[in-house]
Amino acid sequence: MKTVILDARANQSESVTRAVEVLRKGELVALPTETVYGLAGDALDSKVVAKIFEAKNRPSFDPLIVHVGSKDWLARLARSIENEPIVRQLIERFWPGPLTILFRKSDRVPDLVTAGLDAVAIRMPNNPIFLAVLRAFGKPLAAPSANRFGRVSPTQAAHALEELARRIPLILDGGPTELGVESTIVRVSPGQIEILRPGPVTEQDLALVAAIKESGGSQKIIAPGQTQSHYAPERPVYLFDLNTIGPAWRNYGLICWGPVHHVREFALVRSLSETRDLRVAAQRLFSLLREMDRPEIEGIVVEPVPEHGLGKAIMNRIRRATAPRETGA
Ligand code: TXA
Ligand code: MG
Repeated sequence: MKTVILDARANQSESVTRAVEVLRKGELVALPTETVYGLAGDALDSKVVAKIFEAKNRPSFDPLIVHVGSKDWLARLARSIENEPIVRQLIERFWPGPLTILFRKSDRVPDLVTAGLDAVAIRMPNNPIFLAVLRAFGKPLAAPSANRFGRVSPTQAAHALEELARRIPLILDGGPTELGVESTIVRVSPGQIEILRPGPVTEQDLALVAAIKESGGSQKIIAPGQTQSHYAPERPVYLFDLNTIGPAWRNYGLICWGPVHHVREFALVRSLSETRDLRVAAQRLFSLLREMDRPEIEGIVVEPVPEHGLGKAIMNRIRRATAPRETGA
């Protein structure tokens, strides 16, 4: 299958029309969101949803996020809204935006979308191209990040092409994504918000709405897809440690936090943000990991960022990239 890339910034309405044609045929389109590029398909058609798993080589136990074009689409997808006051406030404050909320799913949502779970993860993305496609298509879109399973999420159309060339017919290029890390995922329980995946909507943001319950280290959470090794380039990734700097790092790449350093000790040195701006770091992380993932580099060393605010999401992704690899991921 030939993969076409359309410049959706130059020709938005034409690109949106093409995307909707492809979606109506039951095919998949990679689209920009404000976080990362997503691989979108009709969320209510299980045959299409199956194609998403296939294109990504994603195991079917890892559920997908459903994207809506408007807040009132929720009524068709969620059976009931528990803890409604908190959920309503979250939606009012953070949608459209990088916040995914779990709901009890209605029968309209195919079991394949939720990997058989009773909960469906839903968000309303804040990207004009994605929203225009949703509204023109008129139905919710299931969209995991547009990478093959276990790999680094794409933050540019070229990355999505690298991942999915010949597997999907169409990619809309909306330029580099604004936020660079995937949405925050939460589950609301009575009086509490549990953060299942840290993201651009931070703990501090959420604490304005209700008490925060830490998901703890427990990996047995209701997010079965949260396998340890995720977001990983092919090269091994390590956390920077001053005590281990030496000749062994000669063929390694270094990703710094703040001004670059140790440029003579490493083969390639880049910075997440010269001015130590967490937003810039989030935007750049995945594309720097991708840039360093090349034959002459043996491994990638990443300097930790402060773990507050958006730093939590960034460190979560870095740790996942350093985690031991699982076979096939
Ligand atoms: O920013 C984002 O969230 C991007 C863009 C494209 O929207 N999407 C994204 O999707 O990151 P994906 O599939 O790469 O990651 C979704 C995560 C997975 O770890 C999955 O396990 C979890 O969400 N998830 C999805 N549905 C769930 C559910 N019903 N219960 C618990 N976790 C769920
Ligand atoms: Mg993903």
